[in-house]
Amino acid sequence: MTEERLQKVLAQAGVASRREAEEYITAGRVKVNGKVVKELGTKVGPNAFIMVDGKPVRRERKTYLLFYKPRGVVTTMKDPEGRRSVADYVKDIPQRVFPVGRLDYNTEGLLLLTNDGELTQAMTHPSHGVNKTYEVTVPGIVPQEKLDMLRMGVKLEDGMTAPAIVDLQDYDYEKNLTRFTVTIHEGRNRQVRRMCDYIGFPVRYLRRIKMGILTLNGLRRGDCRELFDEEVEALRKDCGLESAAVNKRQPAVRKAEKPNTVKTETKRRVKK
Ligand code: URA
Repeated sequence: MTEERLQKVLAQAGVASRREAEEYITAGRVKVNGKVVKELGTKVGPNAFIMVDGKPVRRERKTYLLFYKPRGVVTTMKDPEGRRSVADYVKDIPQRVFPVGRLDYNTEGLLLLTNDGELTQAMTHPSHGVNKTYEVTVPGIVPQEKLDMLRMGVKLEDGMTAPAIVDLQDYDYEKNLTRFTVTIHEGRNRQVRRMCDYIGFPVRYLRRIKMGILTLNGLRRGDCRELFDEEVEALRKDCGLESAAVNKRQPAVRKAEKPNTVKTETKRRVKK
């Protein structure tokens, strides 16, 4: 890793946003190798010892994991009710990673886990609007006008939704079901379910299949793999962030049929 700007290092360590980190620096709250640094252009190497308000800043290897969350798993690192959580699937990862956004307990699909605080902030910030695509199944045959309502935006209790891309997949007349995909860039709580409630067709099945450039391709439920460097760069670019010095390890798929037995990496590679 080469030298990087102090504010960027602080933001990547999850201490603060880059702008807040700049304020910390100019306020004299940041020390590098024991000396207060107030200069915003200051660059630091990978071994610099940084403190903010007298507390050491932990600089872990940046880790980016793509996880296929099954249904019945909570998107937190700990569940007070003792339900299965995302943490059960990444027990053998030494870095402390956190989910970027969340999926409901009963939603399955793509979830990004990382310790890159800057990317997390950027991806979950409404103004950046990373596209997220969901596969939706609802009981009944949904008329086109209702799908058009989702396309235009619907009025939820927390305001109008932005226009969505909605693609009808099929009408299953035998099972009396409609399948379609919805792409949104907002990340409101239970947004897709609430949008479908609004048009009178509550969701029966929901799966996130795409987030920015990331897809579920090659992963099975419970699988987890590290991102390729190119994927990290593309994600950061998508969010308007500078390129990051990321790890050069080859991503491998982790098989995780049972969450507590995730120990080894298999040799199976995932094609992009
Ligand atoms: N929208 C929902 O309703 N639920 C999710 O888990 C994600 C998006």
